[in-house]
Amino acid sequence: MRAIVFATNNAHKLEEVQKALPSIEVKSLKAVNFEGEIPEDHETLEENSAQKADFITEHTGLDCFADDTGLEVEALNGAPGVYSARYAGEHGNSEANMEKLLSELEGNSNRNAQFRTVVTLNLDGKQHQFEGICKGTITTEKQGDKGFGYDPIFIPEGYSKTFAELDMSVKNAISHRGLAVQKLVDFLNKQA
Ligand code: IMP
Repeated sequence: MRAIVFATNNAHKLEEVQKALPSIEVKSLKAVNFEGEIPEDHETLEENSAQKADFITEHTGLDCFADDTGLEVEALNGAPGVYSARYAGEHGNSEANMEKLLSELEGNSNRNAQFRTVVTLNLDGKQHQFEGICKGTITTEKQGDKGFGYDPIFIPEGYSKTFAELDMSVKNAISHRGLAVQKLVDFLNKQA
């Protein structure tokens, strides 16, 4: 079985991706004894995900993939986008990020948004990128407690529940990261 490192410290994402990639051993950073911080200081999802994958490949010498995701809100000209993790200032404070987004959109009837993920794969010395988009709308208040990040305030197109109310299997099948990972899986299967 081929093993590939997933350059993330997020256990939720590792679990989601391993479920979608049963034929590959997805190794965590911990499993390859990497404990440092991974830089992501660019202004696009494409550059950030490549920066993360390159950093891990350079440090471990292993094939690797990395993802970068942003929530792009139409009424806010695509914000928070690449800054989604630190929209309210402090990195990874989901509660504060959601509060800020809901207040920015207060009274605004345009609730259209999309999650966009870019996955960068470094495989056998070559680099490949895959994009996944999930369109939807932003609620006016938080609903549900599953998932992470902005899940409680995002309703995917065609559903009436937020990502935080839907089962992980449903989210995986339709989510930005699920779609980008599916493209990664299709690509990897063609290499076999
Ligand atoms: P990352 O690039 O995957 O770390 O994503 C950046 C930020 O986007 C995260 O800190 C979350 O706030 C948000 N995010 C990414 N993926 C999801 C998701 O599947 N649901 C909700 N929020 C997400």
